[in-house]
Amino acid sequence: MTTSSLLIRHARILLPDGNFLVGDVQTQDRTIQQVASEIPADSLSPNTREIDANGLTLLPGMIDPQVHFREPGLEYKEDLFTASCACARGGITSFLEMPNTRPLTDNQAALDDKLRRASEKCLVNYGFFIGATADNLPELLQVSPTPGIKIFMGSMHGALLIDQEALLEKIFSQGSRLIAVHAEDQARILQRRQEFAGITDPAIHSQIQDNQAALLATQLALKLSKRYQRRLHILHLSTAEEADLLRQDKPAWVTAEVTPQHLLLNTSAYEEIGTLAQMNPPLRLPHDNEVLWQALRDGVIDFIATDHAPHTLEEKAQGYPNTPSGMPGVETSLPLMLTQALQGRCTVPQVANWMSTAVAQAYGIPNKGKIAPGYDADLVLVDLDTYQPVRREDLQTKCGWSPFEGWSLTGWPVVTVVGGQIAYEHGQLHTEVRGQALTFAQ
Ligand code: DOR
Repeated sequence: MTTSSLLIRHARILLPDGNFLVGDVQTQDRTIQQVASEIPADSLSPNTREIDANGLTLLPGMIDPQVHFREPGLEYKEDLFTASCACARGGITSFLEMPNTRPLTDNQAALDDKLRRASEKCLVNYGFFIGATADNLPELLQVSPTPGIKIFMGSMHGALLIDQEALLEKIFSQGSRLIAVHAEDQARILQRRQEFAGITDPAIHSQIQDNQAALLATQLALKLSKRYQRRLHILHLSTAEEADLLRQDKPAWVTAEVTPQHLLLNTSAYEEIGTLAQMNPPLRLPHDNEVLWQALRDGVIDFIATDHAPHTLEEKAQGYPNTPSGMPGVETSLPLMLTQALQGRCTVPQVANWMSTAVAQAYGIPNKGKIAPGYDADLVLVDLDTYQPVRREDLQTKCGWSPFEGWSLTGWPVVTVVGGQIAYEHGQLHTEVRGQALTFAQ
């Protein structure tokens, strides 16, 4: 809903130093103006919209740095409007989207097309990766604005697959912008697909694309990044072996992320939800869950992304191996992580850091990730007292399902503010709100 000034009263505000202040936050236009224990109402313009946040916790808006929103070309699964509604409901005020749409986002025109579509229909802020192909190196060096270059080292087909070391080396050696890798070794995957051919139990997916396939690709990306001191981000780290590798050897210019599903689900999920648990890189063992949690808490893994990758239930019902990999995530990630915080696995400030502050820092997104005067008014008010289950009928994602259905979660967003505008409040979306294109100062 459009308003120029907001006053959020009596919230438990997460401050940049990690402490909480019970007080007020005032926004003017797109910016946070004041943060104080009490802001006198008579100091504000008469059309200031006031929100009573008594008992609620105010966090910086979440930034999801890896999503697949399917537009253009695959809108039957999801589109930028439905996905951004799901973001607003989930407290995600900015997203970074991947290039495997149709056409691929592998040149300036395709990037401009996505930016135009997003400006017309996204309730939240947006940025789009450029995808590396065998022959678009000049584009990779020049396109703008983009958070970086996405390389699929494996588990992809078509032009976005870059599985030859010589070609990878060419990309790593030229330019300086961030390279984000989907690290799975394609040769090993193909060989194991043959070995396990004919098996239709989806649990075999985790054995075909096994821990070793992920480790081999991460090792190669790390080697090339070190050779050229190239800024590298490892997407959805999924194995204990990769976490151990980074713990021993992580240059200052390398970052890594983990998904809530790799922290909270493992191969036992196939028995319960079958192919809905199928994703790339696949779910691993409980041991991997534990090692990933420890790496996240220790700072070996820097932040969290959902890898929101919606597919229809019809597609997911086709039977393995004909089923597509991927699961939605943007409207459950924050309550999932806050529920873990309340259960003592981490703290609320850690969750806000992993899902907002650290992401803004790593991608050089100016003025986001903190609640302080001068920062963008991207905010989420969450309720840490009430538990509510994930219900299919509440979901905004067009695919209409979640791997976490039935999970009882706390920390659900009550109000989501994007650029000083209320995009979501008490179950209602304000679909006229529009986000802005993100900028990246790397
Ligand atoms: O499971 C996945 N699905 N992982 C990816 O990296 C791609 C995604 C998709 O686009 O469906």
